[in-house]
Formats: sequence, C-alpha cells, structure tokens
Amino acid sequence: MTSAIEFKNVVKTFAKANGSVQAVLDRVSFSIPAGKTTVVAGGSGQGKSVTLKIILGLMQPDSGQVFVHGREVTRASGKELEALRTQFGVLFQGAALFDSLTVFENIALPLRERTRKSEQEIRRQVEKTLAQFELTGHEDKYPAQLSGGMKKRVGLSRAMQLSPSIMLFDEPTTGLDPVMTQDIYHLFAKTQAEFGFTSVIVSHDIPKIFNLADQVIILNSGKMDVFDSPEQIQWSEKPHIQEFVQTTMGTIYQSHLVEK
Ligand SMILES: Nc1ncnc2c1ncn2[C@@H]1O[C@H](COP(=O)(O)OP(=O)(O)OP(=O)(O)O)[C@@H](O)[C@H]1O
Ligand SMILES: [Mg+2]
Repeated sequence: MTSAIEFKNVVKTFAKANGSVQAVLDRVSFSIPAGKTTVVAGGSGQGKSVTLKIILGLMQPDSGQVFVHGREVTRASGKELEALRTQFGVLFQGAALFDSLTVFENIALPLRERTRKSEQEIRRQVEKTLAQFELTGHEDKYPAQLSGGMKKRVGLSRAMQLSPSIMLFDEPTTGLDPVMTQDIYHLFAKTQAEFGFTSVIVSHDIPKIFNLADQVIILNSGKMDVFDSPEQIQWSEKPHIQEFVQTTMGTIYQSHLVEK
C-alpha cells in the first residue's frame, strides 16, 4: 500500500517553564496510507495538533524525517513547502475563518486565490457547497454572527474547495450536535469515495469516528500505537490502551475485560 505521509523516528520536545524538557513526540514512526482515513486519538496535550503542524511543515521536529508523497518535508525550502501545502485541505482546531469576510467569501477564497475560475463558476460551486453543509441562507453572514457548529461547517467546506489530495482535520465535529456530526461523517465518506483523497482526522469523538477509520493512531506520552481496527484496539494488552478503551469506548467494547 502506498503511503501519503511517513514519519521516521520523529522527535519533538518543548522546554517547560520549570526548565524540564517535555517530549511530545518521542522517536515516532508511522505511515498514513494514501486514499484511506486515519483517525488520530489521544488525550488533551498529547501532541495531536503538533503532529498535524509537523506534517504541514509549520513546525520543525528536533530530529527525524517526515515525508509527504515521498518528498521530505523536513528538508524542504520555503518555496517547496508552499507547493507542498497546496496539496492539503486543512481545518485547524477552532475553524480560523476570516472575520471580515462573509460565509460566501470565506468559502470562495481558495477558489479566487488558487484557480482561474470565472465568477459564475465560483458562485455555482460555492452554492453547491453551501447546500451540502446546510448553510444555504447564511452566506451573507459574518463569522461573528454564526454559531460554533456553523463556523466549523464553513471551515470544513472551505478546506474542501480545491479537491485536495490530503485532508487534515483537527476535531472537525467538536461542538456539533449528534445529527450534524453524523451528517458530516456521511459527507466525508461520500466525498472521499468520490475523490479518493487521504484523510487524517484528529478526533475526540470516540468510538463513533471509528466507523470512518481505516487506521487508528493513539498518541500517549510521546509514543504512538497504530491499529487497523477498533477491535484490535480493545484487544491490546498495553495498560494505557486498555485504559483508553475503558474511558472512551464504553461497555459494549469491554466484554473481554469482564470475562477475564
Ligand atoms: N509552540 C509551543 N510551545 C511550547 N509548547 C507547545 C507548543 N505547541 C504545543 N506545545 C505543547 O505540546 C503538547 C501537545 O500539544 P498539542 O496541541 O499537540 O496537543 P493536542 O493533543 O492537540 O491536545 P488537544 O486535544 O487539547 O487539542 C502540549 O503540552 C502543549 O503545551
Ligand atoms: Mg489539538
């Protein structure tokens, strides 16, 4: 299977206020298969967002190598990084919309900046997206006038405009109600089947998000554990994974623990 993203022995540390060093990623190696969905899970502060920033070259690791479609991000020049980033659709934690632009203009922005589409083509595409994300009728509002869930949907639809080959979503459904969450997951599955992009989704929406996952990565204390299925997670012998199962996956996944 070809990999879209590869980490080899990546180390990322931060100096803490008390002078000690925190290893957020401690010689981490994994690969993210192309055209599949990888879910990244783990407690708050374990390095999920840092991992995404390293993939994009927005943050440099202390050591180790990171490859995107075989190109080494960790050695790329500013220009190469810029070119590399055009392959990504990104939704950062907190949506990051432009406050002075309306919903319509926020979604249209990548099309205006990166394509030569006519005004009419842009309007048609944005209107289609507005409908898909249930935002029709809100296109003239500014971010300050939107609910949290609506902001999230605007951010998602903007990320998907240029049909990127890799999607990086940092908590795409946090703050959405269960129905909207389900709708977003369906939309992911549908658009991925259609366009075949690779997606990396950081999520706390465990275990629901696992329906979407081809691979699950759990980050804990600087280490990563990679699983092919939720079943594999629950059978793990590692204490911290068992704890993760108990606290996040609920009793339906714990039958084997009860039997022991
Ligand atoms: N620029 C930075 N300078 C210093 N420490 C940082 C920096 N960025 C992240 N960290 C630290 O790295 C650790 C991992 O942060 P990260 O944002 O990746 O967590 P996370 O897994 O995304 O958590 P959450 O689920 O809360 O979003 C945290 O302890 C954080 O304080
Ligand atoms: Mg985060």
